[in-house]
Amino acid sequence: MSSSTPILVANRLSKTYHMGRVTVPVLREASIEVERGEWVAVVGLSGSGKSTLLHLLGGLDRPDRQPGRTAPNQRGGTIHFESTCVTDLGAAGLNRYRAHSVGFVFQFYHLLPELTVLENAMLPAMTGRTPLAWLNADASRAKAKRLLDRFGLGHRLKHRPNELSGGERQRTAIARALVNGPKVLLADEPTGNLDAKTGGEILEVIRELHGEGLTILMVTHDSSIASMADRVVRIADGRIVAE
Ligand SMILES: Nc1ncnc2c1ncn2[C@@H]1O[C@H](COP(=O)(O)OP(=O)(O)O)[C@@H](O)[C@H]1O
Ligand SMILES: [Mg+2]
Repeated sequence: MSSSTPILVANRLSKTYHMGRVTVPVLREASIEVERGEWVAVVGLSGSGKSTLLHLLGGLDRPDRQPGRTAPNQRGGTIHFESTCVTDLGAAGLNRYRAHSVGFVFQFYHLLPELTVLENAMLPAMTGRTPLAWLNADASRAKAKRLLDRFGLGHRLKHRPNELSGGERQRTAIARALVNGPKVLLADEPTGNLDAKTGGEILEVIRELHGEGLTILMVTHDSSIASMADRVVRIADGRIVAE
C-alpha cells in the first residue's frame, strides 16, 4: 500500500564518468519520485545507468558537481529523502544517511569474507564505533540475530560467507541491509547471481518486507521480476521514463 507522500525524490540528476579524456555521460537530468511504501522496479539495458542511479540515491556516490554553480539544475541535481537534502550533506551526514536511512543489497552480496555471518549482519550497526564496542554490542547483536533467524540463517551465525550458498549469502546481505531499520531498501539486481528457485526465495523475502511497509527500489533486467513491483520505470538515454 502506498500513500501519496514521496519518501525519496531525485530531481534532474546528472552523472558523468571521466576516463582520461573520455567523458561518459550516464545520467542526464534523470528524475524519479518514490512514494512511501511503494515498490518500484528500475529496468534498462546493461550500461544504461541503473546501478549509477541506485548508488546516487543510496549516497554511495554523488551527482556531478559544477564548481561555482549552485542552482539545482546546474549542479547535477538534487536528492531529497523525507525532509533531508541528501545532496547537500557533508561526509558525516552522508555516512549517517547510508547507515540508517537506506539499506543496500548488491548482486554479488559484498559480504566481508573474514567476518562471520552474524558479524557481517551487525556491521552497519557498528560503523564508527571502536573495535572494543563489538564486545558491548548486545542490542545490535540481538537485532542481527533476529533478522538472521527470520531469514532461516539461525544455524549459520558463526559460518563465513564462503561456507554459504548464494541464496544464504544474499539473505545475510538483506539482514545486514535491515539491521539499522532503514525506511528504504535499494536492491541492485538482488537475484542476478542466483538460480531461478533461489532468486524466487529472495523475491519472496522482498515481497514480505514490502508487505510490512518497507519502501523498495529494485533494479532488474528481468521483466517477470519487474512485474512484481507496484510500478516499473525505465532508464533510457540517461533519463527515467514510465514503463
Ligand atoms: N566508475 C566508473 N567509471 C567509469 N565508467 C563507469 C563507472 N561506473 C559505471 N561506468 C559506466 O557507466 C555506464 C553505466 O553503468 P551502470 O550504472 O553500472 O549501468 P547498469 O547498472 O545499467 O548496467 C556504463 O557505460 C559503465 O561502463
Ligand atoms: Mg548494474
